[in-house]
Amino acid sequence: MVALEHRKKYYAETLPASEGDLVVEGPVLPDRLKYYSFHEGLVAFRPPEEQQEALIGIAGLAEGRIIIARTANEIVGYVTYLHPDPLEHWSKGNMEDLLELGAIEVAAPYRKYGVAKALLGVSFRDPYMENYIVISTEYYWHWDLKGTGLSVWEYRRVMEKVMSSAGLEWVATDDPEITAHPANCLMARFGKHVPQSSVEKFDRLRFRFRILY
Ligand SMILES: CC(C)(COP(=O)(O)OP(=O)(O)OC[C@H]1O[C@@H](n2cnc3c(N)ncnc32)[C@H](O)[C@@H]1OP(=O)(O)O)[C@@H](O)C(=O)NCCC(=O)NCCS
Repeated sequence: MVALEHRKKYYAETLPASEGDLVVEGPVLPDRLKYYSFHEGLVAFRPPEEQQEALIGIAGLAEGRIIIARTANEIVGYVTYLHPDPLEHWSKGNMEDLLELGAIEVAAPYRKYGVAKALLGVSFRDPYMENYIVISTEYYWHWDLKGTGLSVWEYRRVMEKVMSSAGLEWVATDDPEITAHPANCLMARFGKHVPQSSVEKFDRLRFRFRILY
């Protein structure tokens, strides 16, 4: 098994938005996440107060990373990275070097200004990210189709643009949750320092029914 120290290096950049400049920064410590208010429109996954608590929890994990976009005092977007949930298939390999981009969200008034792409850009400035395979499971039932008015395929295109801006690319899988709908997909980025043994272990996770073919 690969042993990692999960070292984290902080980066920040400024992004002009029509509502004023945003700071995109991270990984941030739990205390910083407690300090800022949390935009009331960040409701894609759970009510804002609960999501802020969840982010604080992730930021405190050894491998957990939270990158935020914020105004002077309010968080308006975030992206999360952590090991796959123990209840998920992707955790079965017990891979220290597998991180899941679990959630990315930008409050509606700040969308389409490149905030999501900036969140990923700042995330991958940390060279330590090259030690990980980073995955994102795209399920259309998580997408804000109603709020954006996009079709499933238009939304899928947006997610591909966001993810590919940081080098996450579509990868094949026979995972039944992913194959349940053709717009769902698995995206992955293989860091430069990921050993071949981890790539192979991840391949076995991606194709669990291979024996049937
Ligand atoms: C998906 C989401 C994070 C995108 O955030 P964003 O900050 O608006 O994205 P960006 O501004 O960085 O846009 C990335 C690309 O998608 C395009 N895009 C974003 N929203 C779009 C829309 N509604 N219609 C058309 N194109 C859109 C942008 O123009 C940009 O394209 P480009 O690379 O050609 O310039 C945001 O819509 C959101 O929070 N949705 C709700 C939560 C969600 O669905 N999360 C994903 C599941 S985890």
